[in-house]
This record gives sequence, C-alpha cells and structure tokens, in this order.
Amino acid sequence: MVKFSKSVSNMRSSEIRKLMSLAADPSIISFSGGMPNNSLFPIDALDEIYKGLTLQAKQVACQYGPTSGYPPLLKSLKTYLASKGLPIDESQGLLITTGAQQAISLISKVMLDPGDVVVTENPSFIGALAAFKSFGAALHGVALDGDGIDIAALSAMLDRYGEAVKFLYVICNFHNPAGIIYSKERREKLLEIITRRDLCLLEDDPYGELYFDDADKDRTVPLKVMADKTAPICYVGSFAKIFGPGMRLGWLLGPREIVETVELAKQSADACSATFTQVLAHEFLAQNKMPAYLQMVRRAYKKRAGIMLSALERCMPAGVTWTRPRGGFYLWVTMPETINASDVFTAALKNGAAFVIGSAFDPKGQKNNCMRLAFSHTPEEKIEKGIQIIAEAVKSLL
Ligand SMILES: Cc1ncc(COP(=O)(O)O)c(C=O)c1O
Repeated sequence: MVKFSKSVSNMRSSEIRKLMSLAADPSIISFSGGMPNNSLFPIDALDEIYKGLTLQAKQVACQYGPTSGYPPLLKSLKTYLASKGLPIDESQGLLITTGAQQAISLISKVMLDPGDVVVTENPSFIGALAAFKSFGAALHGVALDGDGIDIAALSAMLDRYGEAVKFLYVICNFHNPAGIIYSKERREKLLEIITRRDLCLLEDDPYGELYFDDADKDRTVPLKVMADKTAPICYVGSFAKIFGPGMRLGWLLGPREIVETVELAKQSADACSATFTQVLAHEFLAQNKMPAYLQMVRRAYKKRAGIMLSALERCMPAGVTWTRPRGGFYLWVTMPETINASDVFTAALKNGAAFVIGSAFDPKGQKNNCMRLAFSHTPEEKIEKGIQIIAEAVKSLL
C-alpha cells in the first residue's frame, strides 16, 4: 500500500493545472504561460561562450560544485547586485538556487511550521503560494491597487495575526500576476511597517530589470536597497526572465543566518544547482553581455505590451478594465462582477484562445472576475486575434 506523507494533502488542487494543460494545444493562442519569448534567448552568445571555454572549464561545468554556488558566478553576481545598490557585506549571505522557485521553497522549508501564517499580496504568484501551502502555512492575502499593497489593510492583517505571522511575501516590480509596480511612497510605508514590527520580508524580484523605459529604472529600486542593512529581508532574484528559465538559476541574498540555514536545506534538496548553466551565466555576466542584451529584451517586451494594450482597447466591451504595465510580462484584466473568469476561459478556449483565471492567484483560491494575460510569449502576430476571441467570450457572457 502506498502511504503518502501528510504534507501531500497541502499540495494545491490540480484543477488549474488541468485547465492549463488544455491550453497547451499548439493551435490555441495562449496568453497563459509566464514565459520569456523563445526568439529572445541569447543563443548565439551562449554558443560563443561555450565554444570559448577551456577544456578545464568544460570539465568543471560537467562536475558537481559547491552547494552555495559556482564561486566565479557568486563573485560576478555580487558585482552585478552591488551595482544595483544591494548590500554585499559580511552581514549578508548569497546563495545560488535552482531558480527563484527553489529559493522560495527552501525559505519556506526552514521558516514555516504547519499553521504558521504567511501574509501575501492578493493576487500573488502561484508558485510561491503553492510552496507556502506545501509546508502547511495559512495564507492571508492583502489587496493590491495600482501603487502596491493596501497599507491600512496590511496593518490590520498583521494586527489580527500577530506573532503567528512568519513573514510577508511581496513582488514590487512588474508584479506577477497584477502587472503593477509599487510607488516609492508605498515602498516606504511598507518598510516602515515591517521595521516597526521587526517582521521578516521575502522580496521576490525576477522582473525588476524588465522596465520598458529607462526613465523607470529608478522606480524599480528593491526594498532591500532602501531598507536598513540589518532589516530581515530575503531578496530573491532569477536569471529565468532575463536570460532563460531553462538555465534554472536564481539566487537568494539575505541575512547570513537565514542564507546559511537555507544552504543546509539545499544540501539535501539537490546538492548544488547545475554547474553547467552557472558557468555559462558567469561568463555572460563577466563578459559584460548583460547590459546590451537587456536593452534589446526591454524593447521587445515593450512592443508586445503595446500590441496587447491596443488590441484590448479595440476589442473589450465597456466595463472591462486592465492594468497598463510599465515592464515585465503581464497585465491583469478585471471584468464586471457578474462574470466568472472560468466561464470566460471555457468560452474562449472553445474558440482557440487561453489565459489564466484570476482565482489561480488568490491565496485562498477564491473565484473572481479577473484574468492574467501574459504578452511575453505569444507570437506577436497572434496577439490581436487572441484578444478578439477573449473579448467575444466576455461579451457573450455579459
Ligand atoms: C514572481 C515570480 N517569482 C518566482 C518565479 C520563479 O522563477 P524561476 O523560474 O527562477 O524559478 C516566477 C516565475 O514565473 C515569478 O513570476
């Protein structure tokens, strides 16, 4: 007889995954996946980097490495993070992880006991919600508006759950799924709250580099840069959205004590992240290929977002609203309250288009009238048609 652990019951229902698998059909125009565009991967640069490696470097790339990360990558990543103003000193630890997802999952593993509370934004990133839940956490979401988390509601939530709250999880830059960026004032207020309460913060920032306009660069400054160096903030980043998720590389920068404990947990999770891709990522950074590459990628996503926004303007009926992203991959659409996003999904799918329903991102899985559209992956020439199909589905349900 198969006897699963109790934690399996905390794993999130697969209803949404089932819906998503329907959208995997190549004939469907899908805005579902939060994926970079295949045509933007730096394939030539990676070819060149690999060919340029010495035999010894290629052997290192095929070998196990230290759990904390490939030392040259740790060094080049530190230079990169320091250039963003992030604190790289003795008080902080840096760990390379197998994607940002692993950093989130391992932090959950070392910090959460069943019944602990994690406060998140609502909506929030589905992968993080699933990780927190898998360790038995109770999730409580605080609403977002166009400038970030609702500060009064956050304070009330923290008062309500008090000591049971282990940490707060936020995505301030080009939010997945909400597509918003926190204002400076909202960031300051959030920091004030966590400092006053000495609350741990998990700051997830995989999209911060993907601003559409250079003028917005200053708006993406991480909370960890703005905060006092002693604040218990774990900053999670990723190469996935700027480089390629297939590299499976992310990182955790945080108070040394936390990062060392996470490293211990990583030893039994996967011993080390892939050395092969760490070697490539190190060379990419060390050869200073990142700045020009990012410029190209930012322009490409800005163009795609523009195409989707104009299609929405043209096709959506009155009463439907959406966020206007200044970077990242997503926009968040709110339909009239009488509409259930699952019904729109079913109707749109029948006619060949797909998206992710809003309830997937609700910490408690509650149904709602919202959807996430990713403009990053779908072929540009299919965006208009896909939006038309979804808009027709909305109209049919009004
Ligand atoms: C907000 C957020 N955090 C983390 C991740 C996971 O990133 P990675 O592929 O590096 O594990 C994603 C991927 O969609 C994301 O959107």
